[in-house]
Amino acid sequence: MKIYGLTPYCLEKSLVFNVKTFNNIAQIGLDQFGTDYSVSPEADNADALLLRSHKLQPEEITANVKAIGRAGAGTNNVPVDYCSEQGVVVFNAPGANANAVKELIMAGLLLGSRGIVSGIAYVDGLGSMDDADAMNKLLEKEKKNFKGSELQGKTLGVVGLGAIGSQVANMALMMGMQVVGYDPAISIEAAWRLSSDVKKMDSLEALLAKSDFITLHLPVLDATRNLINAETLKSIKKGCKLLNFARSEIVDGDAVIDALDAGLLGAYIADFPKPGMIGRKDMILMPHIGASTDEAEENCAVMAANQLQDYLENGNIINSVNFPHAVLERTTGYRLSVSNKNVTNMLGSITSILAEHNINVIDLLNKSRGDIAYNLIDVDQSPSAAVIEQLSKIDGVIGVRLL
Ligand code: 3PG
Repeated sequence: MKIYGLTPYCLEKSLVFNVKTFNNIAQIGLDQFGTDYSVSPEADNADALLLRSHKLQPEEITANVKAIGRAGAGTNNVPVDYCSEQGVVVFNAPGANANAVKELIMAGLLLGSRGIVSGIAYVDGLGSMDDADAMNKLLEKEKKNFKGSELQGKTLGVVGLGAIGSQVANMALMMGMQVVGYDPAISIEAAWRLSSDVKKMDSLEALLAKSDFITLHLPVLDATRNLINAETLKSIKKGCKLLNFARSEIVDGDAVIDALDAGLLGAYIADFPKPGMIGRKDMILMPHIGASTDEAEENCAVMAANQLQDYLENGNIINSVNFPHAVLERTTGYRLSVSNKNVTNMLGSITSILAEHNINVIDLLNKSRGDIAYNLIDVDQSPSAAVIEQLSKIDGVIGVRLL
């Protein structure tokens, strides 16, 4: 993350916040915003943006935008580095749609192991038959073509054990599967959520070699783009079935097609169809519906809206992908939030200016993440516009807000 050439922003207390929405955001999420908010797809001079999979362009992040809420998990549709440079906090809603994705993975596993898709298509093709006995005889004769196998006793490899992956792993254990997992960056929270019956693998290759089914639960990062490629596919167990309900970019589609054609991969079950994949019998493809349930849409919208509000009103940061976690109970009616480059003597410069103006600090939180640092400073009196201006002019300050 690089921060350079910034014009620091300097803002006095807002009375009304404008939130611009993209995509359909569940009404219950929009209802979280109080009467001090104007929320609409047409909002002018937006303080915050709220979106799902809309591919956000830098020019849509207008000068007054302070935060972006992604009502979902993935933020690869948001130019996060650009936001960091501008001091814009990007939030996501981790876990809010995890159950929906987990349930679709359950369906994916079943669709991949039984002749459900082909069986339904076969029955749909019998529309012209009008003799019930003949139909019954035909079905009994043909059903051998749709035989599958059971999940119980098979091994599921879960790559990525975050909010979704850990739920998937635990669910598969309940379905009687053996579960192996790989996640070099597992968080302590995720590790706590994971059943101790999930066998941890030391490498991706080890997981691929052991699994009858592989499911991916990773964000798109430089390290995960095309993680499943011609080379890694060499490690899979012959006939293994690959599920991708994470992101298209994690899998090299051409390599998957080659592995299917070579009989190495048994099936590809995914939420991300691409040209060249349609109509194949060894692919079951869906239109990115992993999180498309009433419940998930509502959970995500509520979480994203609450996080945006807490940031706009109190400067608190929960579930940001580019700023540090920062939560401070309010102690006074006067709070400053200051974001700055993560370099030495920033806090000293800030508090010196406050002291110069006889402003007493009541409480203070200073956090950093990568190149960014963030401060919440509760003070005993309302700093004047001139003080805020002076703070914003400190070399390295990205933004100052009076909350
Ligand atoms: C996510 O990143 O949370 C899922 O891919 C869902 O995306 P959606 O909100 O566009 O359905």
